[in-house]
Amino acid sequence: MPRRAVIQSIGMAVADKVMTNDDFAKFLDTSNEWIQSRTGILERRIASDEESCSTFAIRAAKQALANADVDPESLDLVAVASVTGDYQFPSTSCIVQDAIGAKRAGAFDIGAACAGFIYGCQLVGSMIESGAIQRALLIGVDVLTKTVDWTDRSTCILFGDGGGAVYMEASNEDRGLISTVLRSDGSGGRHILIALGGSKNPIGAQRSAGCSPYVYMEGREVYRFAVKAMGDSCCSVLQKAGMSVDDVDIFVPHQANERIITAAADRIGLPPEKLFLNVHKYGNMSAGSIPVALYEAQATGRLKKGDVVMTVGFGAGLVWGANLIRW
Ligand code: ACO
Repeated sequence: MPRRAVIQSIGMAVADKVMTNDDFAKFLDTSNEWIQSRTGILERRIASDEESCSTFAIRAAKQALANADVDPESLDLVAVASVTGDYQFPSTSCIVQDAIGAKRAGAFDIGAACAGFIYGCQLVGSMIESGAIQRALLIGVDVLTKTVDWTDRSTCILFGDGGGAVYMEASNEDRGLISTVLRSDGSGGRHILIALGGSKNPIGAQRSAGCSPYVYMEGREVYRFAVKAMGDSCCSVLQKAGMSVDDVDIFVPHQANERIITAAADRIGLPPEKLFLNVHKYGNMSAGSIPVALYEAQATGRLKKGDVVMTVGFGAGLVWGANLIRW
C-alpha cells in the first residue's frame, strides 16, 4: 500500500457575534432582499475587537486534536492558510503552535487567499506522502471583516470571520488525497487586493492615489472569473483522477456566493443534492470557508468516512484550484 495523507479529524470556530442583512440596512443603502438575491447570504459572524485570526485558529486546532485524541507534542507541522494573520510577522502558525503546545512542530503560513485550504491540502498532504513528516495540523482561517470599508456596500456585506482545522496523518488506509489541481493568473491581481501595508505601499509612506487600506474588489470581474475557474478546475481534477461527477459523493466548494456556486455546479453537471452550502449562515470566510463547510457536512451526516469529496476554491491572486479527497 502506498503511503497516504489521511484527514483523521476536523474542528471549527467562528465568531459569536451574528450580523444580519437587516443590520447592514440600518447604516447602508442596502436591503435584505438585495443581499440575499445577489449572494445567498442571510447572516455572517463578525469578530470582536479582542478576537483575531489566531483566536479562531487555536479554537479549531484544539477541537481537531481533541476529536482525534492526539497529543499536540506528536505533531510535526502546524500550517495556517490565511491572508489576515495576526501580524505581518511572526506567522500565525507560530502563535498557534505555541498556544496548543506543539513543541516539536515546524510552522508556516500559506498565502493563497480563498484558495488557501486547497493549496494547503496539497502542500501538507505531499509532505506527509513523501515521508518528510507524519502528523500535521492544517488550518484555514480568515477575519476579513477587519479589512473592509464599512461604508462600501459592495464589499462589506460579503465577508464573515472564522475557520477550521484538519488533523492529517500518514496512513496505509485506502483514503486521503486523490488528486489536486492548483492554478494562478497574476495578471488579474488588480481585481481584488488590499494595496496598503505591504512593502510596495508601506504604512507611513505617502499614499499614492487609490492606495487603500481596505479590500478593493471589482465584483463583476471576480464573479465571471470565479464561475469559469471553479468549473474548469473541477473538470481538471476529475480528469486527473480518471473519475467523473458520478463518482463524487459530495461537492464542498468555497462559500463566497450561492449564485457563483450553483452556476459552477451547473457547468459541471453536478446534481444539486450533491452540493453542500452554508454561505447563508457565514458569508465568505475566505480560507476558512471550506474547512468549516467540511466540518458541518460531516456533523450533519452528509459527509461520511469513505465518501469522495470534491473541494474547489478561488480568490485573490488570482488563484484557484480543486482537491478530490476520499474522506
Ligand atoms: N446593496 C444594494 N445595492 C448594491 C450593493 C448592496 N449591498 N452592492 C452593490 N450594489 C449596487 C451597485 O452599486 C450597482 O448599482 P448601479 O447599477 O447603480 O451602479 C448594482 O448594485 C449592481 O452592482 P454589481 O456589482 O453589478 O452587482 P452584482 O450583481 O455583480 O453583485 C457582488 C455584486 C455580490 C459583489 C458580485 O459581483 C459577486 O459576488 N462577485 C464575486 C465576489 C467574490 O466572490 N469574491 C471572492 C473573492 S474574495 C477573496 O479572495 C479574499
